[in-house]
Amino acid sequence: MTTEAKTELDPTNENHWAKYLHEFRVRSDTVYLNHGSFGIALNCVRHRRDLLLRDLEMQPMDFYLRKYEPLLTKARQRLAEFVGTEAENLAFVDNATYGMNVVVNSVPLAEGDEVLLTDQAYGAVRRMWEKKARETGIKLSFVSLPEKIESKQQVIDLILGGVNSKTKLVVFSHIVSASALILPAKEICAALRKKNVLSCVDGPHAPLQIDVKLNQLGCDFYAASLHKWLCAPLGTGFLFVRADHREIVNAPITGWGRLDVSDVNDWEEEQIWLGTRNQTNCLAIPEAIDFFADIGFENARQRLSHLASLAEQQLSELFGTEPIADRSDGWYGSMAHLPLPEGDWSKLQDELWVQEAIEVPVWELNGRWWIRVSCHLYNTPDQIEFLARELKIRI
Ligand SMILES: Cc1ncc(COP(=O)(O)O)c(C=O)c1O
Repeated sequence: MTTEAKTELDPTNENHWAKYLHEFRVRSDTVYLNHGSFGIALNCVRHRRDLLLRDLEMQPMDFYLRKYEPLLTKARQRLAEFVGTEAENLAFVDNATYGMNVVVNSVPLAEGDEVLLTDQAYGAVRRMWEKKARETGIKLSFVSLPEKIESKQQVIDLILGGVNSKTKLVVFSHIVSASALILPAKEICAALRKKNVLSCVDGPHAPLQIDVKLNQLGCDFYAASLHKWLCAPLGTGFLFVRADHREIVNAPITGWGRLDVSDVNDWEEEQIWLGTRNQTNCLAIPEAIDFFADIGFENARQRLSHLASLAEQQLSELFGTEPIADRSDGWYGSMAHLPLPEGDWSKLQDELWVQEAIEVPVWELNGRWWIRVSCHLYNTPDQIEFLARELKIRI
């Protein structure tokens, strides 16, 4: 197994990082600054997935009966080490959306019970809870995240302030999609635990962008996608369930579970055989973890954060606006998020795409227009400067 590289790499040294540009196949006629919405898989990962799929398709019996479970066990073990928990607390799922749905359908809730979310919950997460509320009579309540972040305690107090005697579960994003903010998940989960309230963390932006250590985080449930910042194949995610809740997991599909049915003991074993399907995506996850372990996870994070801070500096100067939180206090990772100057910027995203092939999201939040720039190893300072130049012409 590859371990964390010891040598610290200078995140600003372009000569060093240039070699990683070729580890991805990004369409060369576009400037892709939106890894946060849809990630791009590493070449080595796609290659491994393709080899496995070829093997599967050429001799399915041998693959499924003799190779599949050992490879899946290995992949799950590697993922468990990466996210700081035991393999039996994890199951592979297609994506965070799938994992969050399992939580919605597992936590025992009765009419009158309350589930608390933030006003910046991911749209699909909000929808799944709204459906649950319609079906069961549970009540949803929402806290609004601050427009200006002053301290961790401010955010913790705000979320805890929304909890009352009926609140059974709090659902929040580890990294908020709409604002790129990294929330103080460990402190929030600890405070909820003291009040006997369950925590469910929606974390698809977190693995790799930040150092996720699930046992230390102390949440009850955590769902993530690995096709975002870890650059694993599309269709890879995991659901973490704290050991005390094993019994309550209501997996949506019942198949064979394990090849040897007598070995199915737990919820996560139910997820191994969900009928005949292509699971080679998940089997290629270790390749992605090893790739970043070779660079050094922290080295990679520092590089992505350096690129994001370049974007933040340049756009902040150009717009004359400030981000809602201070990057130096650890509120952001690989994404920069800034308010545009006052005005209607509803056409800006399309213009940048149609006229310059720059892919960057621009959206409205709380009555103001924002831009979110995502940076990964295939991005360069030149691309950020290009974006800044093109914005300057239009602002
Ligand atoms: C906070 C958050 N939750 C959930 C999702 C859904 O992730 P996926 O589409 O991989 O299921 C996203 C996607 O961007 C997200 O940002």
